[in-house]
Amino acid sequence: MKAFLTLGFLLLSVTVQAKVYSRCEFARILKRHGMDGYRGISLANWVCLAQHESGFNTKATNYNPGPRSTDYGIFQINSKYWCNNGKTPGAVNACGIPCSVLLQDDITQAIKCAKRVVRDPQGIRAWVAWRSYCQNRNLSQYVRGCRL
Ligand SMILES: *[C@@H]1O[C@H](CO)[C@@H](O)[C@H](O)[C@H]1NC(C)=O
Repeated sequence: MKAFLTLGFLLLSVTVQAKVYSRCEFARILKRHGMDGYRGISLANWVCLAQHESGFNTKATNYNPGPRSTDYGIFQINSKYWCNNGKTPGAVNACGIPCSVLLQDDITQAIKCAKRVVRDPQGIRAWVAWRSYCQNRNLSQYVRGCRL
């Protein structure tokens, strides 16, 4: 009788776990980092912005084919101006960081860079999602029910 050697394929599913914050958890962390009222921007504006940019997902990335840049992390910060991913033409890296740090579970660096973004004259208008979903809206729902 012939022995069969069964070759088993081990499908190693290496799932990179993304940390997805809850709305109120995110709001609390922002507040702890002095984001409520930073440059006159209320907590609800930051929460609205992050909800529509990333759904509070720290691992969110989106490629922009035109400028060949990528948006990173919970605030979807762009590699053309703010961080270095080593492949964006004419990149500036104004936050002085590798883009990969914007994908960490710990959002300290992302918050620091978001503050840098709004210190520029355009402020929070830098974010398309903010202009589309948050500007001139009643944002009270974004921090409703949160223990801050
Ligand atoms: C915003 O909406 C909440 C409830 O949805 C309401 O209580 C509040 O008065 C509204 N604020 C303004 C400025 O309209």
